Amino acid sequence: MSLLLGVNIDHVATLRQARYALNPDAQIVEPSVLEAAREAKAGGADSITIHVREDRRHMQDADAYLIRKEIDLPLNLELANTPEMVAFACDLKPDFACLVPESREEITTEGGLDVVRHFDSLQITISKLQASGIKVSLFIDPEPKQIEASAKLGSEMVELHTGSFALNEGAEQKNELERLKVGADLAAGLGLQVNAGHGIHPQNINDLFHVKNLTELNIGHNLVSRAIFVGFRQAVIEMRKLMKDYEGGAA
Ligand code: PXP
Repeated sequence: MSLLLGVNIDHVATLRQARYALNPDAQIVEPSVLEAAREAKAGGADSITIHVREDRRHMQDADAYLIRKEIDLPLNLELANTPEMVAFACDLKPDFACLVPESREEITTEGGLDVVRHFDSLQITISKLQASGIKVSLFIDPEPKQIEASAKLGSEMVELHTGSFALNEGAEQKNELERLKVGADLAAGLGLQVNAGHGIHPQNINDLFHVKNLTELNIGHNLVSRAIFVGFRQAVIEMRKLMKDYEGGAA
């Protein structure tokens, strides 16, 4: 199976909010997140990712409902593990919900959600989401104990945090790549769909392809950055092209 591309359009909302957060009913409000989702689809995106934060600093509830209604692609909602956000997700009914940390105390030393520490509350959250027909992903570090806890929780997927891999270079990056390889194999062996995301870029994607068993990459920052110069659709087309070289996909 070829590697899927989930396009994260949060930064489009970030840019819009930079100008219009205090004036959402202005005559002109841009850039449009809906247009971004349409362009991502036209460029070959397999799914659209949005992160509705507790403080609504980027994506707004109305954005999520509009994209859900208008875009005929699987929607992946990133959300914090709080009752309010879970209720929002159950109402929106995205195809996938990816639980991510939003506060310092929720994250592991490296930045993924600490599912070991929050096991009990995640159990409740995951069952609520799944009861609403939403598949659950957990954004975690490639740490065996986090992966094992994710499988025990019954989530359908994990998204391995590639931030440390993307940020580092040399020996540290190699070491991080090893952890991702081992982590992806372990997760796949436990029956989890394995996705990856954060900081993925044309300059590091080929190294990442040494990690086997990946199903989907979630990419945002590079695509929005590249879009400034070539347009969003073209940025997605270019990324898709690079992703064709991946040979280690899950069966
Ligand atoms: N996956 C998750 C869980 C994220 O929160 C983000 C956005 O930070 C991404 C993937 C995409 O990361 P980037 O914008 O660096 O491509």
